[in-house]
Parts: sequence; structure tokens; C-alpha cells
Amino acid sequence: MLSTTLGPLSLHNPVLSASGTFGSGWEGRQFSDLGRVGGLVSKTVTCKPRPGNPPPRIVETPSGMLNSIGLENKGVDYFVAETLPRMRQIAADGRAAHGAAPRLVINIGGESIDEFVQLAARFSAEGVDALEVNLSCPNVQEGKLLFSTDPRLTEAAVRAVKKVATVPVFAKLSPNVTDVVSIAKAAEQGGADGVTAINTLIGMKIDWRKGRPVIARGIGGLSGPAIRPVAVRMVYEIARAVRIPILAAGGARSAEDVLEFVCAGASAVEIGTAMFTDPALMVTIVDDLTRLLTAHRTSIAALRGTAQAGQDARAAAPACKPAEATR
Ligand code: FUM
Repeated sequence: MLSTTLGPLSLHNPVLSASGTFGSGWEGRQFSDLGRVGGLVSKTVTCKPRPGNPPPRIVETPSGMLNSIGLENKGVDYFVAETLPRMRQIAADGRAAHGAAPRLVINIGGESIDEFVQLAARFSAEGVDALEVNLSCPNVQEGKLLFSTDPRLTEAAVRAVKKVATVPVFAKLSPNVTDVVSIAKAAEQGGADGVTAINTLIGMKIDWRKGRPVIARGIGGLSGPAIRPVAVRMVYEIARAVRIPILAAGGARSAEDVLEFVCAGASAVEIGTAMFTDPALMVTIVDDLTRLLTAHRTSIAALRGTAQAGQDARAAAPACKPAEATR
């Protein structure tokens, strides 16, 4: 009922953590049984350590939050030595307790295609379950033009990663574009096994008393429930245009939200900003999904993309019968 697939990757349920909102899961494991979630997506890992952007780099906004962390992390060597074994421990505990483990998805970030390739090769050799290629962080300057704002760069980066990756590759897309569908198609063309949609929307909050932005870098990425309708719309549009699976991200905070994304065409859903206030939320959502799907005698597989079919049927049918229209 809850099981799903993301291309070649099977998951025992469609609930994953969103990159950058739950670390590696190690600190979060004290709040809930992470063996029960579908997957854990790491914070972006880069080749070299990054100190991140200067503070303040997070601020709350109406129904959301802005962040400009700047991909702070200790680099791939530290991650492989210290963090990955912890993620593996969470998966092993899950397997021992439930016979199923959360999938370990490593989010990678590069300043060049060569860096993406190095990271993909390294994590493939480590035998992680999948890679999420972060083509879309809005908070770094050295990338100049984000890979995922240009279809040619997206395709080139994905193609290069796919040449060396031996695990499924998901391209994480930016919503800060005019035509997200063309970028998703480029990722598919490059050989991506799926896309993650969406990263954060670029925003700004200004303290008028100080006359300057609250976030030190000025702009940040907006996440949380405020962006969910945008994310649902983009997932819906992408699902109509590509054959590869979609991992949705963008403001989901309940089982109902997860099912909304699934109806739009997603195969699984990442939970992010809402976990800052409830770090046990993923497991709550898994429980609620079980209840909802049981009550409605349906499944994730049966619901996937149903809004597409419904829309097609409505488009094909006349809005109302001529006789009714004149009544
Ligand atoms: O600033 C950050 O670390 C955010 C990363 C992202 O949105 O991908």
C-alpha cells in the first residue's frame, strides 16, 4: 500500500527527508524510529569543506522560512569517514527492526561538472542507494549561473554524472526559472533516473528599521508551506512532460500534502522545513498515510498521477451539457 519506486530504486514508503533540513538523520534519530521512513537525504556534500555563508542565515517568514546556509559542510572525506557510517547504522537498525531500511540518498554539490563527477564516482564506490545532484542551490556565488537554470548545463552535468555513477541519479531542480519543464526534460535527456522538484524560491526579507535585509547575504531560499502550491504545480507540469519519476519537495507537512503531490504525479515526497518544528514528523506522516490509504482502500501506486487523468478527462468533456447550460 505504501511502497513505491523511484525508477530503479524501491522504497518501503514514499516519505524521505529533504536535503539540508535533517542533517544525516543521526541527531534526529532520538525523536523517532527512522527505520520507518522511506529514505534519508543528506545535506549537500561538496568536494572541499565549506564554512557556509555569514549569519544571520535563517529567518522565519509567513508560512515558511528563508535560508542562506551556503552549503556549509565538512567536505566529502569527512562525510565518508564520519557521517556515512552513521547513516548506514540508521539503515541497519531499520533493517533489523522492520526488515526494511530507509534508502540512503546522498545530495552532492559541485562548483564545476568535474566536481560533480568526482563526488558521483566516490559515492558510487561507497555503494550508497542513490545520488541527488544539487543543481539548484540559490545560496552560492561561485556557481555564477546555476546549473539548473540552463537546460544545456543541466543536461551536460547529468550526462557527466551518469557516466560514472553506478547508482540511480536524481537531478534536483530550481523553481527559479521561467520553464521548469524544459529543465526537467534536459535532465531526462542527460540520463537522469529521476528529478527532485523543487529547491527553494529565491526571496528576501527586509528589516525596515535597520534599512537592510535580515539575511546577511541579502537573499535566501524560501521553503515551507508557502511554496507548496508552486511545487505542486511544477510537479504536475513536469509529470506531464517526462517519463522519469519525480521526487517532490516543497512545503509538505502532512500525509494529505504527500498525497496531493502523489496525485500531481510524484512517486515520493521529501519532508523538510516542517521538521524544524517537529523532528518526528516523517514517522507521524507514515502512520497517517497508512490510516488514510487503508480508509480509502487505495495505495500510493494507485493514486500516482490521478490528477493528471482527472484533468485530461475534464478537458475532453464539455464543461456542461448544452441542455443544462440553458436551464
Ligand atoms: O544554502 C544552502 O545550503 C541551501 C542549499 C540548497 O537549497 O540546495
